[in-house]
Amino acid sequence: MLESNWRFFFEKELQSLNSKNLFRSLSFPHSRDFSSNDYLNLSKHPEIIKSFKEGLDFYYLGSTASRLIRGHRDSFEKAETDLANWVKSETSLLVSNGYSANLGLLDSIANPKTIIFTDRLNHASILDGIRISGAVKKYFNHRNTSHLRSLLEKSDKSSPKIIVSETVFSMDGDIALVDELVELKKEFGALLILDEAHALGVFGEKGGGVSLDRKLFPSIDESDIDVRIFTGGKSLGLEGGFIASSEIIKQYLINKMRPFIFSTSILPAIAHSLSTAISIAKKMDEERKHILQISEILRNSLKEKGYEVLNSKSQIIPLVLFSEEKSLHKSKELKEKNFDIRAIRPPTVKESRLRISINSKIQFKDVEELLTYL
Ligand SMILES: Cc1ncc(COP(=O)(O)O)c(C=O)c1O
Repeated sequence: MLESNWRFFFEKELQSLNSKNLFRSLSFPHSRDFSSNDYLNLSKHPEIIKSFKEGLDFYYLGSTASRLIRGHRDSFEKAETDLANWVKSETSLLVSNGYSANLGLLDSIANPKTIIFTDRLNHASILDGIRISGAVKKYFNHRNTSHLRSLLEKSDKSSPKIIVSETVFSMDGDIALVDELVELKKEFGALLILDEAHALGVFGEKGGGVSLDRKLFPSIDESDIDVRIFTGGKSLGLEGGFIASSEIIKQYLINKMRPFIFSTSILPAIAHSLSTAISIAKKMDEERKHILQISEILRNSLKEKGYEVLNSKSQIIPLVLFSEEKSLHKSKELKEKNFDIRAIRPPTVKESRLRISINSKIQFKDVEELLTYL
């Protein structure tokens, strides 16, 4: 039985969230998907499902141990090679998910002597990694490379420095100034980490991410980005996290990264099906084009209607309503019209909003219909 002091604690916290319209509860997927990260609809792809079943027959269920003990399988190595080839990286390391990739990477590389320069809107997994590493955290204003420069200039020359940013930002849908981050990393001798979680499958050559997008960034060389984070849970429709890097960083992580060392590795069958998902995703140029076209149409129409969509340039479109209550209400109203669009509130974002995400199945007529309700 919960002691009364603890019951009081939990009740008080939950009541406080409730009174600010910040209480969260779980609700199942419903109607038309305008909210998941299944951008290429691979979570239901028959070939990948078949591959997962084959993987189960071949590798059975759990990996039974950490990869450094008895949990290692050839399907992990193959997925790592396939991902690395896709994103043009020397190698990659497969871990449980994107969250532990960011957390474990930053914790293992940084220490209290390191200064980490982090975009103000970076994902929670990046912030948590910085926090547990004990590094000095310097926020730079969102996508503001002049601010980043001034922070770099003011910082101690001899301290090891890391610059970390998402490429496609998960809640605003805008894109980091990757070319300028590369310049600053070179000038100040920093390690550059880019989280491509929402870019994979959608941006760049064969969907390999913003770092490979020569229309957006003609002059960069992906090998100048020291570490890139990808996840299997979004456009690949599965789960898992990939840390793409040079061989020396991979060896370091295998030796130092706590979530990799001290956790049972994911199902080998997942890794087997990740390879299939990668080979399919690479070929989906038509879907990528469609996603970005539909996103642009929706974004422009929302702007015309006077909505705030920030600086979105991707398949993620924030419809900022600046009110928790309005966002919850609108999400509920849209559910009745068969649209699954979720409200995103603080502390996930500063200004409450609907986060609309466009996947390859969404057609122009769906967007037209949605616009009639907004
Ligand atoms: C930018 C970013 N990085 C990392 C993650 C974590 O990835 P995963 O869902 O695979 O843990 C997410 C997902 O929420 C994300 O949006």
